[in-house]
Amino acid sequence: MSPLVSDYLVYLVQLAAGKRAAMESGLARQRVADLAPWIDLRRPRRILDLGNGSLRPQYGLLRAAGHQVVGIDLVNRPARGWKPAAYGALRRAFAAHAGIGATAMAADGLLCGDVSRLPFADASFDLVVSSAAFEHFLDVPAVLAETRRVLRPEGMLWVGIHLFTCPSGGHNVSFTQYPLRSLPRGVEPWDHLRGQRRPFTVPLNRWRKHQYLEAFAREFEVLRYYCGTREGEEWLTPALEAELSAYSRDELTCANLVIVARKRPLSTSLNARQRAAVPTPAGLLGVPA
Ligand SMILES: C[S@@+](CC[C@H](N)C(=O)[O-])C[C@H]1O[C@@H](n2cnc3c(N)ncnc32)[C@H](O)[C@@H]1O
Repeated sequence: MSPLVSDYLVYLVQLAAGKRAAMESGLARQRVADLAPWIDLRRPRRILDLGNGSLRPQYGLLRAAGHQVVGIDLVNRPARGWKPAAYGALRRAFAAHAGIGATAMAADGLLCGDVSRLPFADASFDLVVSSAAFEHFLDVPAVLAETRRVLRPEGMLWVGIHLFTCPSGGHNVSFTQYPLRSLPRGVEPWDHLRGQRRPFTVPLNRWRKHQYLEAFAREFEVLRYYCGTREGEEWLTPALEAELSAYSRDELTCANLVIVARKRPLSTSLNARQRAAVPTPAGLLGVPA
């Protein structure tokens, strides 16, 4: 059996056992805490979820918390057959374990579209969120420019990125372990940075941490960033660290880079030329996350 097929079975078991709901609920709580200094999420807000996914976990949790949420993803197209039916069952299991009503998972707030061309008016949202999706966006600058456009002045952005440089960042090992704790037999850690013997199964932009931080800083005030999940520290021997010396230990082991940012108020907003010239905020890049 190919590892991917076995992974799907593990994925189903994990969903049925409530593991995914526990993980996603933890992420939602973390987001509330991260954003608390800037936006009070106990009040209903207009929120956009970029790349909501077929399971729609954060879309559902945000709706259940009373927010007006729109999700945009290429997968949000009407479809028939076993796959949409299977996802329907998975969403019901997810909602039951997360303790939210099935209506929170309903598709009435979803749009099928490309996140680099958002079909929304300027200043439509108080908050934009995205989880485990930015690494798949192939035109990150366009997504960020569009995100800035649709946020109101001082609107907030909360993004979690499955960083390409971490052991599971090539998306070519198990996707059911989060964080990754074991490798398939015969697969070397960081295979995707060292010759990539295993193929990638999904589109990936291969961006590194500094590229994200620089691109976010061009469009937003980056208020905070940190590594939410670590993996692979036990595999990073001195020999491997030397082989992968083009990467820092921090980016080799960060499985979830969280970035909290704010749209500048109108009075200090920058024009396109000024944005292009924005240096990475002093001290932002070298600060241990
Ligand atoms: C790994 S999934 C994450 C989904 C969800 N946020 C979650 O945590 O389960 C990434 C999603 O990004 C979507 N995606 C990738 N590129 C996109 C694009 N240009 N426009 C809209 N959605 C895109 C994919 O269709 C996929 O559903």
